[in-house]
Amino acid sequence: MKQINPFQLKVISSPELFCDRETELDILLDHVRNGAHTLLISPRRYGKTSLIEIAFRQLRSEGVVCLLADLYRVDSADTLVQTIAAALIKGLHWKPDKTLTERLRGLFRSMVPQITIGEKSISVAFQYSKTSDELPPLDDVMDAIGRFAQESGKRVCVAFDEFQEITELPRSKHIEGIMREYIQRQEGVSYIFAGSRRRILTKMFREKKRPFFKLAFTVPLPEIPEEDFTQYVIDRFAKTGKTCERLAAQKIYKLSRGYPYYIQKLAFLSWGRTVVRCSRPTVEKAHRALLEMESGEFEAIWQGLSLVQKQVLRALAFEPTASPYAMSYVTRHRFGSTSGLRKALMVLEDKDFVERYPRTDEYRLTDPYLAYWMREAPERRISLE
Ligand SMILES: Nc1ncnc2c1ncn2[C@@H]1O[C@H](COP(=O)(O)OP(=O)(O)O)[C@@H](O)[C@H]1O
Ligand SMILES: [Mg+2]
Repeated sequence: MKQINPFQLKVISSPELFCDRETELDILLDHVRNGAHTLLISPRRYGKTSLIEIAFRQLRSEGVVCLLADLYRVDSADTLVQTIAAALIKGLHWKPDKTLTERLRGLFRSMVPQITIGEKSISVAFQYSKTSDELPPLDDVMDAIGRFAQESGKRVCVAFDEFQEITELPRSKHIEGIMREYIQRQEGVSYIFAGSRRRILTKMFREKKRPFFKLAFTVPLPEIPEEDFTQYVIDRFAKTGKTCERLAAQKIYKLSRGYPYYIQKLAFLSWGRTVVRCSRPTVEKAHRALLEMESGEFEAIWQGLSLVQKQVLRALAFEPTASPYAMSYVTRHRFGSTSGLRKALMVLEDKDFVERYPRTDEYRLTDPYLAYWMREAPERRISLE
């Protein structure tokens, strides 16, 4: 029988595929059980959504009603309201019986759910009129969460994934203000705010004048430790009757720099190239293939940058540094002005292309494969003549 590749490139929701993260999981569960709110931050594809899924599994078994609203595609206050309402309705798992319409109507004050029953699924759309200040009824949907918790006596956990997206919306401060008002007042509801644009999110929760100031405990997700992830790779190979040499597994970890998504992808490609035994040359070939696969995305990132941003990104790909403003660094990389450098660095950090790595305090490229890609393409160096 043909074996199925044991590595996973999608969000992980089953505990046996989930490596490590015991500490973060415990903290998260503890916050939810105690009604506290959590800010969960990491670079993209480090495992935030997977961790939420794993936590939800546990919480549901304890009777907590869990709602996941992915705000990644939210592009207006209207889509925000609809996304939260949809998460609420989905998370309630109400039976589609005769009383459903009635129950849904009871959930909201001003929004009128309209239910369409299809052959296999039920869909819900909402009708509402805008409030006097032209905002859709965000207060109604936020209030519905709190009232549900109160009336049912159940604990509720709401995860807002890619939460930073609300800062891009028109009148975002006003939206933040409304959300905070309800979050702060509700009892029995615990919120998880997850996101990858760390600078934006941290500012949101740390700046005094922002509505979310001090609203949540921060839980950063770092890399998964080398020992645990190498063993995981070895075990997953063994499960399918193949062998991965320890040195090869360590190479996977090193090349991916502990980045969960890339470890899985590099292991996935290495497994595909292995008949019986995976050794370092197999990983090396898989690494080349991975770099090739990602290059389209990197090209698009590169095209979207300004000239100074390109210069800064290139400099950091070749030489990560804790002191980008040091005279020697500025001269070596031929930056025109430090103010231009400062601005570019800020934008790159906001987009999470660049991070300040806490262990060494160095600025570096968040994505190790973007750094490889840049280092290997000398034509992408910019000549300043
Ligand atoms: N704890 C983990 N164990 C194994 N693989 C993981 C783990 N966390 C994340 N991954 C890998 O990283 C990928 C990205 O995870 P995801 O939860 O989508 O990250 P994020 O929400 O931070 O973008 C997953 O598809 C999986 O391959
Ligand atoms: Mg995610």
